[in-house]
Amino acid sequence: MEVIGVDIAHEAFKQFRSRSGQDWTETAAPKLGPEAKLFTRKDGKIKLYAGDVLKFSPDLEGAFDAINDCYGIHSFDIEKRQMFATMIKSVLNPGGRVLMEEIAYDTSILTDENFKPPWPVPPPYSVTVESVKSIFGRFTVAQLKTRVVIILLLCAFSSPW
Ligand SMILES: C[S@@+](CC[C@H](N)C(=O)[O-])C[C@H]1O[C@@H](n2cnc3c(N)ncnc32)[C@H](O)[C@@H]1O
Repeated sequence: MEVIGVDIAHEAFKQFRSRSGQDWTETAAPKLGPEAKLFTRKDGKIKLYAGDVLKFSPDLEGAFDAINDCYGIHSFDIEKRQMFATMIKSVLNPGGRVLMEEIAYDTSILTDENFKPPWPVPPPYSVTVESVKSIFGRFTVAQLKTRVVIILLLCAFSSPW
């Protein structure tokens, strides 16, 4: 199995690589931004892109059977959230699945005038099941509840997007 990771935080990748005690190669990844980098573990089984996930595309690594959004989409406002969903759909194989670990909260707790729903600033933005359904369109959305997070499981239709 190959694992591909994406995050824009270069420093986090630097620390991760140094703590891993493993050998990594570093190359430019201009498709994800002018400063973006690709770190590849020596055996080629783990690739970490330090760059803008909204620029990710099938040109880079083809398509995936499974994608895990680990507290990422709540970084994005409504416009970028739609871009994120479009990108995910472009790199998901037919029948593939997306596991989203996200947070949803009652936005009415944000009383400041600047923090009015539906898209209060700054992040984390609340990620409700309804908001996920609206941006992912023809996906089946299943919700698994835990005490502190909502986990969303999306099953892709096998038809073209
Ligand atoms: C709440 S943190 C989650 C980090 C990590 N996945 C975890 O679970 O610990 C949100 C992450 O989204 C990343 N992020 C925000 N905007 C991004 C973008 N446009 N492209 C890639 N990563 C982004 C941030 O750098 C941050 O690490």
